[in-house]
Amino acid sequence: MKKIALLPLLLLAACNSPADSEKGAGGPPQGGGPPAPPPYQMRAELPAGDRLAVQSDGEALFSNRCGACHLAGGMGTNLLTKQRIAAGEPPQSGLLANRTDLTADYVKSVVRMGKVAMPPLSRTEVTDSELDAIAAYLGKAGK
Ligand code: HEC
Repeated sequence: MKKIALLPLLLLAACNSPADSEKGAGGPPQGGGPPAPPPYQMRAELPAGDRLAVQSDGEALFSNRCGACHLAGGMGTNLLTKQRIAAGEPPQSGLLANRTDLTADYVKSVVRMGKVAMPPLSRTEVTDSELDAIAAYLGKAGK
């Protein structure tokens, strides 16, 4: 008599366990969220979308390729501001975009060779045509 009363319980247990293990193994992946957009699309001043569309815009390319260090608050700006103040120049000239004494050739050689705390940037990081546009933007005297 006791064995017959336990039978439904055993059946329930047998039916439930495979369903539970399926949930753990075959469920949809948890968490994650949408993939992060590439950095160039995160810059408000750049049109979202075609990377080639901004290839010749020196100001946008400068902000995109050099801005992490050379916009306000960047470590390049902070170091250069100290150097400029020490040299008796106005603190605003720590921003490369405010400089009027840079030549395009100087900008190109610093980017390819590096300078003290600035690492050299390769042609895969900044292509030659992108660097031409950036150097023309920064090197424009009297802007
Ligand atoms: C990883 C940060 C970083 C990036 C990215 C970077 N720079 Fe720099 N840059 C620096 C630092 C730091 C200095 C100051 C070096 C020193 O003298 O100590 C500097 C210095 C320079 C100078 C020399 C300024 C002078 O008064 O002699 C130029 C020109 C320059 N950067 C251009 C660029 C350009 C153009 C790009 C983008 C293609 C770029 N940098 C990207 C960090 C960076």
